[in-house]
Amino acid sequence: MTSTIAVEAVDLVKRFGDFTAVDGVSFTVPTGSVLGVLGPNGAGKTTVVRMMTTLSVPTSGTARVNGFDVREQPDMVRRSMGLTGQAATVDELLTGRENLAMIGGLYGISRRALRTRSDELLAQFSLTEAGDKVVRDYSGGMRRRLDLAVSLLTSPPVLFLDEPTTGLDPHSRNELWDVLRDLVARGTTLVLTTQYLEEADQLADKIVVIDKGRIIAEGTPLQLKDQAGSASVVATLTHAHQIGPAREALAVTATEIFVDESARSLTLPAGGLADLTRVAQLLESGGFEVDDLSLSRPSLDDVFLSLTGRRTTPTDDTEETQP
Ligand SMILES: Nc1ncnc2c1ncn2[C@@H]1O[C@H](COP(=O)(O)OP(=O)(O)OP(=O)(O)O)[C@@H](O)[C@H]1O
Ligand SMILES: [Mg+2]
Repeated sequence: MTSTIAVEAVDLVKRFGDFTAVDGVSFTVPTGSVLGVLGPNGAGKTTVVRMMTTLSVPTSGTARVNGFDVREQPDMVRRSMGLTGQAATVDELLTGRENLAMIGGLYGISRRALRTRSDELLAQFSLTEAGDKVVRDYSGGMRRRLDLAVSLLTSPPVLFLDEPTTGLDPHSRNELWDVLRDLVARGTTLVLTTQYLEEADQLADKIVVIDKGRIIAEGTPLQLKDQAGSASVVATLTHAHQIGPAREALAVTATEIFVDESARSLTLPAGGLADLTRVAQLLESGGFEVDDLSLSRPSLDDVFLSLTGRRTTPTDDTEETQP
């Protein structure tokens, strides 16, 4: 492919009856880059991915993958891409290696090539030892890595990942991020959906934020966070009576200080880690006892609040809710 655009969405629309799940979504993803599609539950992320990967026909609009149109050349699109869906697709009762063999067989990869490729992928995803164990005994992170390995059997130039780390613990999430960075370094173009600004921030070159089927913001991670306001330092004091004096002591470094008496906390705008250190020094030299001191960055929730004026529904729900 000579094209420098690997993936393109052109005014994608999807209606289910009279409900519009995706309402005119367009974006382009340059070859070798990462697009993060960020949005809360029900925003339309999976529906966009399904249309772009030929699993669902757009009501109107179209998408191109590696230069091929999802409507006109769905077979060529499928040959150009891998997909790691939101639900784990590997078979619990088979081993990692057997899962790779099964899907590789469906792709028509020869047995010998399959063995070589499986070994490579298991090694790449730190699953060499686990490869001969049944998936039922895998951790969540191992399953997601195997999912990824399966979707990479054919070395596709474009990979779609639908919420690759939802439900993973922070350690597994970090591991998976490293794997994905490695793929990008090898030239793969990624389109990933996520509910976490941090994930998009870590991985994406560009982010589109979708809500109710529409793009409500797009830009680099930095541009988005700037829209949501700056980071802040939050200091929680041990003693309520020290709040007033602490505020005075910190006035040398910040003009705006937000005080929450009941939480015994002081919040100051911050540019980065240096501000955290400065606040720590001022509090220490003033003899203030501190329970907690942290640098907090805008969350997806803050981004949403600033973009839409409402909060995303907080959810720790990691259960699969897709049909
Ligand atoms: N097959 C379908 N029939 C009817 N409505 C659907 C169908 N698939 C999705 N929807 C609806 O479309 C909207 C977008 O769903 P979608 O699964 O794309 O959201 P999502 O952003 O992936 O959410 P999540 O973060 O929960 O995975 C939702 O309101 C959903 O209920
Ligand atoms: Mg989804």
